[in-house]
Amino acid sequence: MANYVRAFFLSLIFVLPLAHSEVQSVIEMPSAKFAIGDDMARAAPEFDDSQWVTLSTLKNYEKQGFENYDGYSWYRFHVNIPSSLRTTVLWDHRLRIYLSSVDDVDQTFLNGTKIGEMGQFPDDSRGYSTRWNGIRTYYVDLATNLVRWDADNVMAVRVFDGSGGGGFYRDMPTLSLAEITDGLSLDLGKTQVAYGHEQFTAQTYWSNEFPVELVGRMDYEVYDSAADAVLSSGFKPLEVPANGSAQVPISAPQRAGIEVRFHFRDASTGVVHHETYHAPYLLTPPESLKPRLNGAKVLGARPGSPIYYRVAATGRLPLKLTATKLPKGLTFDAAEGVISGSVATRGDYRILLSAANELGHAEMNLSLKVGDSLALTPPMGWNSWNAYGLNVNADKVRAVADALVSSGLAAHGWTYVNIDDGWESAKRHADGRISTNAKFPDMKGLSGYLHQKGLRFGIYSSPGPETCGKFLGSLGHERQDADVWAEWGVDYLKYDLCSYELTMPKEPSLADHQKPYQVMHDALAAQSRDIVFSLCQYGSKDVWKWGHEVGGNLWRTTGDIEDTWRIVKEIIDSQNRSAPYAQPGHWNDPDMLVVGEVGWGGDLHPSRVTPDEQYTHISLWSLLAAPLLLGNELTHLDPFTKNLLTNDEVLAIDQDVLGHAAQRVYHQDDWDVWVRELADGRKAVGIFNFGKGFRRLNIAQLDPALALDAPMRDVWRQRPIGRLTREFEAAVPEHGVLLLTVGSAHH
Ligand code: GAL
Repeated sequence: MANYVRAFFLSLIFVLPLAHSEVQSVIEMPSAKFAIGDDMARAAPEFDDSQWVTLSTLKNYEKQGFENYDGYSWYRFHVNIPSSLRTTVLWDHRLRIYLSSVDDVDQTFLNGTKIGEMGQFPDDSRGYSTRWNGIRTYYVDLATNLVRWDADNVMAVRVFDGSGGGGFYRDMPTLSLAEITDGLSLDLGKTQVAYGHEQFTAQTYWSNEFPVELVGRMDYEVYDSAADAVLSSGFKPLEVPANGSAQVPISAPQRAGIEVRFHFRDASTGVVHHETYHAPYLLTPPESLKPRLNGAKVLGARPGSPIYYRVAATGRLPLKLTATKLPKGLTFDAAEGVISGSVATRGDYRILLSAANELGHAEMNLSLKVGDSLALTPPMGWNSWNAYGLNVNADKVRAVADALVSSGLAAHGWTYVNIDDGWESAKRHADGRISTNAKFPDMKGLSGYLHQKGLRFGIYSSPGPETCGKFLGSLGHERQDADVWAEWGVDYLKYDLCSYELTMPKEPSLADHQKPYQVMHDALAAQSRDIVFSLCQYGSKDVWKWGHEVGGNLWRTTGDIEDTWRIVKEIIDSQNRSAPYAQPGHWNDPDMLVVGEVGWGGDLHPSRVTPDEQYTHISLWSLLAAPLLLGNELTHLDPFTKNLLTNDEVLAIDQDVLGHAAQRVYHQDDWDVWVRELADGRKAVGIFNFGKGFRRLNIAQLDPALALDAPMRDVWRQRPIGRLTREFEAAVPEHGVLLLTVGSAHH
């Protein structure tokens, strides 16, 4: 070996370890002592945990020998916190404790003193509330002297798990010191955005959660990722009061691929804080003032069952709506735009809908199939879970129903209003009948309120003794519950496995999984109204292969969604296997939408999924023929979210009557291309860029079904973009999509 080569390797050997022995700035906590049960004495540092087992903090305790345990437990971490940590920051005042997530509720103590909590324990006077997916970051003020430097510190975490996985399960919990600017963040909920023709302006809102004033300068640059160029830059002297906020105005082009990069420099410490704002941009063109009929073109009902159909129509008001050729038994309320009644005789009926105003006239044929099938297109509407969690109540649900109509969403086909967990009484009546808790004083009144607007009413239960939220489940009372729901006027049931798992054999067979759903299906089918049946068992035993056999109209294919790109992407990556099983009346459900403001009963915040990721989310769910169930606070609908949810051409892909879900035809180099066959002969094509930065992909060769020379239409922008050539490249922002239709429609 030549000398210089040897010298190079020697230097590696000697230099690298030195570099590694540099002061550690992050302390990892991959494991902890663990015991089930509850005792507040366990919070004390001197508590003897020597007999406790040691568990990994990277997977839930069910996977480490505590199968099916729900209830209280404690984790205890023994950590030496080196004083050298204090040299790793410029501002030496706060210890940061990052716990990642704790399923479902935690209360955390450092050396015996409580330093943070998330969720509500069952004995909480406000009621139990899970925050299983919440990210816990707690700060300890070093002035409290709670930290024992260079000595054993005990961090004790009291945990409650309501159902499913429990305890620590996600990323590595860590300790580190915070910088002065770590309490600073861009609050998207309070940032005000105004959309102009080509530009947008925003008052970006910066909040400071540390009790220390920040004085410094905010630099920002507008970066165009499509052109890889900085378009403009600026700065503003900035003072953010302790626990206060400040605003920074910006303006930038309103188009795909724009990022605003912020750098705040604190004058006293020199600490720089970076943040990137993925700028929102509207793709759906302004709604036409001419009349237009939207929404599902086919409706399924059983003979004699009540029908509610709200005509979805847009255009300048006043709009004159008509529904003609109605079969016997149906009437039309022109003021509300609602068809209701029931049809006794089986058959395929064609109802003619029309909408007219001073600018024109539109017509649409609605095909009503009276037979055995429901949900002939995927249900569209709203569910309470992602916004309110267990804190849902009747007033909130009414407000959502009002908002569906007043915001205009109902005019684009969003009509289900589904109550998730949290409506049930604590006990059944003596005769076994279920009732509501105080938050829902009058279910029948509530459903009447929805029906009169032509909206549909959904409810939730579990086949086990308890729901996931620890409310009453339907075990042993299936028929009785179905009867009660039918009396209340329920149109939709989400049936969530949860505690039923505890009643199953250790290695449940397919039949064990099917049974509870079959039992409930029979109870629903015996009602004299139609109740869409939604299975929620997270995809166990490939439910997409048999969900329809037990009467499922839809079935969850995954665990719970959350408003992070990581989870949305995980869900996307798992959908290809179930896609071929979607068909009219039977849909795969990749879970509810995480757009707008969500919060699961905790603090409502704008979805952390970026604008491009939200375009991906809605596009892919539509390609998949997935149920579109909003989970947001509808009474605060911001312009971006409204624009995202009212694109009739996108929604028409979801609601296409052929009912075929897209197939993934290309999955390489962080690109996905999904193609869905539409009833009119066109293909809907989604080209998704899951890689870094703005990228381009030539799609002409990817799928033989995409005929060269076929006309293409940009679905979000609702405009033709020429014909497919060999050279055509889809230009797609990071984590974004280009959604096309390819081909000509045959009528
Ligand atoms: C989960 C379910 C959620 C929500 C929740 C209610 O199991 O996946 O969507 O329904 O239970 O407790």
